[in-house]
Amino acid sequence: MDRQTQQYCHDVERTRRQRIGWWTEARYGMFVHWGLYSLLGRHEWARAYECIPQQEYEQLATQFRPKPRPAREWARLACQAGMKYIVLTTKHHEGFCLWDTRQTDFNSMKACGRDFVAEFVEACREFDLRIGFYYSLMDWHHGDGGAAATDRAARRRFTDYTQACVRELMSNYGPIDILWYDVPEPMQTARQWRSVEMNQMVRALQPHIIINNRSRIDEDFSTPENKVESPSGDCFWEACMTLNHAAWGYMPSAAGDTHSPRDIIRMLSIACWDAGNLLLNIGPAPDGSVPPEAVAPLKTVGKWLKQNGEAVYGTLDRQTPRRASACAGAAGGGGWSRKGNTVYCWCRFWPGREMGIGGFKGKLKSARFLVSGKPIDFQQQGHRIIFKNLPHRCPDNLCGVTVFVLEFTSPSEHVPFADTPSLSNIKTFF
Ligand code: GLC
Repeated sequence: MDRQTQQYCHDVERTRRQRIGWWTEARYGMFVHWGLYSLLGRHEWARAYECIPQQEYEQLATQFRPKPRPAREWARLACQAGMKYIVLTTKHHEGFCLWDTRQTDFNSMKACGRDFVAEFVEACREFDLRIGFYYSLMDWHHGDGGAAATDRAARRRFTDYTQACVRELMSNYGPIDILWYDVPEPMQTARQWRSVEMNQMVRALQPHIIINNRSRIDEDFSTPENKVESPSGDCFWEACMTLNHAAWGYMPSAAGDTHSPRDIIRMLSIACWDAGNLLLNIGPAPDGSVPPEAVAPLKTVGKWLKQNGEAVYGTLDRQTPRRASACAGAAGGGGWSRKGNTVYCWCRFWPGREMGIGGFKGKLKSARFLVSGKPIDFQQQGHRIIFKNLPHRCPDNLCGVTVFVLEFTSPSEHVPFADTPSLSNIKTFF
C-alpha cells in the first residue's frame, strides 16, 4: 500500500465511528435491483449469461416505460417492513444509468424522459429513509469496460468515466448516506481503479457518507453476499441477501422460492447476533411495481419488528468469542442479541413448558417476554439457566419467534459448553 492510500485509510478509520453510528443502529435495509434486465425477467446477468449482443440489448431501453413514481411504493413498503434505508442500483453491470447523466446516452432520461434516481431520492426523503446508491464499477456497455484491464489508455478513459458518473451522483441529489460499489472488475488493484482519488472526491462532496468495501479498499463496511455470516476482525458488516435464492433482478419464475417471514427473521437474528446489518433485496417488475410474493413476507416481518424491534435496532454488542456454530442450537434455536447487561434470546423452536440455556456466566436478575412484558420464572445454577412454567404454545403468532429479555447484573460473558467439571467430556471437542 502506498503512503497516500495508507494516509487515506487511516483518516477513514479515524472518522468512521462518527459517520457510521446511524447505520449500525438502523440494522435493516432494502436493496432494490431494477434496470433493463427487469424487462427480460430472467436474471440481472441475462446479457452475459445469454450472450445478448449489445445492440439487441440496447433496444430494451425503448421498452422501458415504468409507471408513475414507483420509488414511492418501494419506500412505503420499506417503512412497513421496518427497514430504515434503501440502496438502489443506479447502474448495474449492464451499464444503463437510471439518472439524467451527461456521460452516456444509455440512460433513463434518454430512454423515457425520467430521472429515477431523483424520484428515488425524493421518495426516500418523503418516507424518512436513509439513501444509498449502488454503483457497479464493472460495466458491460462502456467501450473501454473490458479493455481497461490491460490497455492503459482505455483504463484512463474508463476510470474518468466512472469518476464522472460517481461525481454526478454525489453532486446532484443532496445528501446521500451510502455509496455501495459493486464488482471492481476488470482491474485488480485500487491503484488501477484510482479508488483513493475517487473516494476522496466522494468524501469531499458528501462528508458524512459511508462507503462499502467493493472498490478494492476496505472503506467503512464489509459486504458478505448471500450468506449471513459475520466476518472476522473488528469491522462493520452488512449481509446482502436475495429474497428468492435465485436472482437480484426481477425473476417471476423464482416466486415460489421466496423466503418466508421466518427465514427473514432468521437472517436478522444472525445479523443481530454479531451486531451486523441485513440488506434484503427486492427486484421490482419492469413497471417498477413490487412483486406480490415479496410484499407479503416483508410486511409480516415489519409487524413482528414493530413488536420486537428492541432486540434489533440500536447499538448491539458484538459477540466474544465469535462462535456462532456453538450457539446456534441454544436458546430455542434462534440465538441472541445483546445490549450491555441485557440479552435478547430469540426462541425459534418453542420448547413447551421448560427450556434451558447454558453458558452465560453472569448473574441473571430478571427474565420477561419482550412483547407482553410478563415475567418468566427461572432458576440459575452455575452456567445453566432454566426457564419454567412457560406457555404450552409459542406466544408469537406472526413468525413463531418469541423474544425473551434477560437482565444480568453485568455484561454477561457467554462461554459455549461451559467449563464445569461435569461437562469436561463435551468441552474437549471444542
Ligand atoms: C453480485 C452480482 C450482482 C449483484 C450483487 C449484489 O455482485 O454480480 O448481480 O448486484 O452481487 O451484491
